[in-house]
Amino acid sequence: MPERFMDPILANAIIRATEAAAIAAFDLAGRGDEQQADQAAVDAMREALNQIPMQGRIVIGEGERDEAPMLYIGEEVGTGDGPEIDIALDPLEGTTLTAKCMPNALSVLAIAPRGGMLHSPDVYMDKIAVGPGYEPGLVTLDQSPSDNVLALAKAKGVAPEDISVCILDRPRHEKIIESCRSVGARVVLITDGDIAGVINTTDKATGIDMYLGQGGAPEGVLAASAMKCIGGQMEGRLFFRNEDEKARAARAGIKDFGRIYKLDEMVSLPTVFCATGVTRGGLLDGVIRKDGRVETETLIMTSYDGATRRVRTSRPL
Ligand code: FBP
Repeated sequence: MPERFMDPILANAIIRATEAAAIAAFDLAGRGDEQQADQAAVDAMREALNQIPMQGRIVIGEGERDEAPMLYIGEEVGTGDGPEIDIALDPLEGTTLTAKCMPNALSVLAIAPRGGMLHSPDVYMDKIAVGPGYEPGLVTLDQSPSDNVLALAKAKGVAPEDISVCILDRPRHEKIIESCRSVGARVVLITDGDIAGVINTTDKATGIDMYLGQGGAPEGVLAASAMKCIGGQMEGRLFFRNEDEKARAARAGIKDFGRIYKLDEMVSLPTVFCATGVTRGGLLDGVIRKDGRVETETLIMTSYDGATRRVRTSRPL
């Protein structure tokens, strides 16, 4: 398998898929209907994916076949010619953000050669991430949030008070938040959108040093694709609320339910990560409609060369 197997044809093609989904979702932004916005993004992304010359298989999608009619796990997409590609997608990351027209909603997609991504079920995942440049294993889910803050502060040569930790604002995170604050860290709470939360650890301009907490496992694998491209550390551990979720995991081939996955175990082969902004946010501009044209901004990253590109597209409506 050549390292550069996807560049540039597939990378360009998947940009169109996230752009199409973002534009479709944005048309429904602020209208209070999460499901409709999500459906519009799914339809648009599926149509675009089916035009790509590939034998695509969805490994992370909208759900299992019996609950998601489109872009379900195992669905084959693409023209059926070309390379065998595994696809992880979230046509609308931030359904609530979109319905309320709040910042930071994205359309996200990642690809890897067949077998290159963890087949994660739609359960929760404990996540920890920091940016590049630290010794491997500096932070880990194996130690407490406060110990992770202290380890990161020491490695950066700063006081714990200078460390900012991004966490989803959920009651389940009360203890994590308390633990970070107990050693003086600043906690930056977000209402939704932990893929961006993880990616933000790699960009000094965001002021975020570490991401911590439990969010969707599919979003975890998507974020891992981005981190593999851009550098940085990340770990994930699946979290099951009941036996049904464990059964889903077993069907997806997961055997060790308590395993901590390293970045390279979540995404083990070369990958391309792509995200288009739906609503304006810190990571990307949102969709803009003006003068009969529609504009989008897309972040595309490739792991084989660590490149990050921003693509601005303007097309007639
Ligand atoms: P949706 O777009 O599916 O609503 O996901 C948004 C999100 O905030 C993710 O970024 C995050 O991983 C997950 O929801 C957290 O789940 P929950 O809202 O159940 O805490």
